[in-house]
Amino acid sequence: EKGGYEHFMLKEINEQPRSIADCMRGRLDAQNGRLVLGGLRDYMNKFQNADRIIITACGTSWHAGLVAEYLFEEFARIPVEVEYASEFRYRNPVLSDKDFIIAISQSGETADTLAAIELAKSKGATIFGVCNVVGSSIPRTTHAGSYTHAGPEIGVASTKAFTAQISVLTMMALKLGYKRGTLPENRYMQLLSELETIPSKVERALKMNDKIHEIAKEYKDARNFLYLGRGYNFPVALEGALKLKEISYIHAEGYPAAEMKHGPIALIDEEMPVVFIATKDSSYEKVVSNIQEVKARKGKIIAVVTEGDTVVKNMADHVIEIPATEEAFVPLISVIPLQQLSYHIAVMRGCNVDQPRNLAKSVTVE
Ligand code: M6R
Repeated sequence: EKGGYEHFMLKEINEQPRSIADCMRGRLDAQNGRLVLGGLRDYMNKFQNADRIIITACGTSWHAGLVAEYLFEEFARIPVEVEYASEFRYRNPVLSDKDFIIAISQSGETADTLAAIELAKSKGATIFGVCNVVGSSIPRTTHAGSYTHAGPEIGVASTKAFTAQISVLTMMALKLGYKRGTLPENRYMQLLSELETIPSKVERALKMNDKIHEIAKEYKDARNFLYLGRGYNFPVALEGALKLKEISYIHAEGYPAAEMKHGPIALIDEEMPVVFIATKDSSYEKVVSNIQEVKARKGKIIAVVTEGDTVVKNMADHVIEIPATEEAFVPLISVIPLQQLSYHIAVMRGCNVDQPRNLAKSVTVE
């Protein structure tokens, strides 16, 4: 049932070109400029006129929520808050019927996320679920929702569910922006066409596997890792760090690259591997200066870059190239090498990749 792979996690990482395509199937038709999310139809009005979008989730799903914050604010110009469900539910948050809540959960059973939904519902907000497991508790308690259709995810470390969540949230943001008129039609059409190319670009990104395996050999005994990115790649840095810590038990921190000089920079020495997500986008130049700052302190640099990059190549100890895409879609591709890196390091350290210690696939207790 692992389809010839040694672990479910590896199978699920490699399934992503297909799972992302499955998620978009029947929803996105770029040629005809069509984007349909069935679950959204009856609530489009509420969504379009919301004062605020509040996203609530835990763990990796919360990271997908952070990516969505950038997407919704860029394309639809509605303010977004992203909340850990466990904090949100106990904070007596200010909520009204003008709030549109998006709850993200792979399993659909996470106790804190469920409780956050109940709370928001009791205050009159509209709740939209983005879940993977069909018929689970969250889709049953929300007003509406869209399934991610990634197929069963067995590995405790979430991989294909994350990219499917981002795919759904991207489609929601584009649709919302178009409907609200904040995303002009020609730009909308361009973005839809680019979105359709993502599965094949993920396929190409996966081909860096052997190189990443080599990098993993060199760093498998590191005691700490830093992951840095800006903009759309900041949540990807958090996700890369979470993947590494949960399956390899190496301490890892993700940060927005600019925050480094406000503390984490003190950790950098020749023993510290720093993973930069340095793709060619609007914050590229800034990330390049952050890389220089780490280099000056002798940190080891592993950089995820856009294919053809030469500047970072000359500075980094290792580069991993990924295909270019629209800035807003980069997380769908830039997270792939980070999943592979954590996987290989964990296997080399002899860890139980699919079932890491102390963790369960669904966290049904708070
Ligand atoms: O099923 P959910 O998406 O609600 O689960 C939330 C987290 O427990 C989950 O994402 C967890 O962080 C993963 N093990 C991360 O890989």
